[in-house]
Amino acid sequence: MAATKVLVVDDDLNIQRVLVFTLKQEGYEVHVASDGQAGVEMAASIRPDVILMDVAMPKLDGYAATQQIRAAEDGRKVPIIMLTAEADVEQRVKGLRAGADDDIVKPFHPLELIARIKALLARSGGGQQRKVAEKVTMGRLACFYGAKGGVGTTTIAINTAIALATRLKRGTALIDANLQFGDERVFLDLGLDTASMVNAITEPDLDAELLKKLVVNHHVGIDLLLAPPNPEQADIVVERQRTDPGTLSNILSLMRKAYDYTLVDMAKSLDDFNLQLFDEADLIFVVMTADLSCLKNVRLVLETMDSLGYERGKIQLVLNRSNAYTGINVDNAESALGRKIDYQIINEYRGAISALNSGEPFMSSRPDGPLGQSVSKFAREIDAIFANEALPARA
Ligand SMILES: Nc1ncnc2c1ncn2[C@@H]1O[C@H](COP(=O)(O)OP(=O)(O)O)[C@@H](O)[C@H]1O
Ligand SMILES: [Mg+2]
Repeated sequence: MAATKVLVVDDDLNIQRVLVFTLKQEGYEVHVASDGQAGVEMAASIRPDVILMDVAMPKLDGYAATQQIRAAEDGRKVPIIMLTAEADVEQRVKGLRAGADDDIVKPFHPLELIARIKALLARSGGGQQRKVAEKVTMGRLACFYGAKGGVGTTTIAINTAIALATRLKRGTALIDANLQFGDERVFLDLGLDTASMVNAITEPDLDAELLKKLVVNHHVGIDLLLAPPNPEQADIVVERQRTDPGTLSNILSLMRKAYDYTLVDMAKSLDDFNLQLFDEADLIFVVMTADLSCLKNVRLVLETMDSLGYERGKIQLVLNRSNAYTGINVDNAESALGRKIDYQIINEYRGAISALNSGEPFMSSRPDGPLGQSVSKFAREIDAIFANEALPARA
């Protein structure tokens, strides 16, 4: 098999030297261009398997060079990794928007670069482009809404997503719609330097391809569209949704096309943003525990949903920590609410908290523990609803 061809486009001689050395050690055939213009020309003549593209360069910068390379392509799409000097998310998204597939922030460890190159080559079919047929997804959207803070909404949303992905082999994404105080970065051990909802909702030309780059592929098997990194940026999202609800609709419909399941971990407020999520969802799981204040809230939520005209079946009640002693049992709770509790997830404080502290969800580290089994059962039940249901196909 011919060696994999890597084109390095960078004007810095030291970086050229380091990259050539590292890449050759890895067995790659390496070509070097010292400015953006030369990069564009060599991309056409050499037809590399991967391009490493610096940002600030004479003649043509990395963004423009990437755009020109993309514009000249005819079907075969070469993977491009931007070598950026900025950890700033805005800058990085600019590279992705120009057509790059990934980016790495300088200075980087050679081993990390090699890992990224291999991951991209694997995704693109080892350099030989395979035209993958458009997958048909189930395209379901389900919201998880806590009747009260701390009832386990985030815990259940994350672990259910992992169960759907790993046990049932469904393509699954999770949106952290706790815009101000999203917890998923903590639960999943992620930093603040990833793209988020802010980038997705403010992007004027958001399409499937760009959205794919804005979600984080997590090793537990799910993709994440994260909450903004801080509360100020949450305002940008809220404002954007308020002035143009179509931006949120577009994100959701792109997610439906890309995944079998998109789960949404929601904040408690009943604001416009959340109401739109409720409206667009196929199912709403209201997570609760069996205590008085929670029951009161669930009743209010059910009334609100009724007044919004949702059918009963759209709202499903999930009793978390179902076997914890609260003095209120399932029968009591059901008669207080005048309706059935649809699902129950057991209480296992140790399993839940140790997973949280380690940044590795229990569905990933201990799927066969008691809590893992309980959430797996829940995931199987909801998958059965969707798989058996002949919902009308979406446009
Ligand atoms: N089934 C469970 N058994 C025991 N503890 C749980 C369970 N579900 C959640 N917890 C714990 O409850 C706390 C709050 O959970 P979290 O998912 O952050 O709730 P919310 O998103 O509703 O605020 C966490 O410490 C979590 O580990
Ligand atoms: Mg939460």
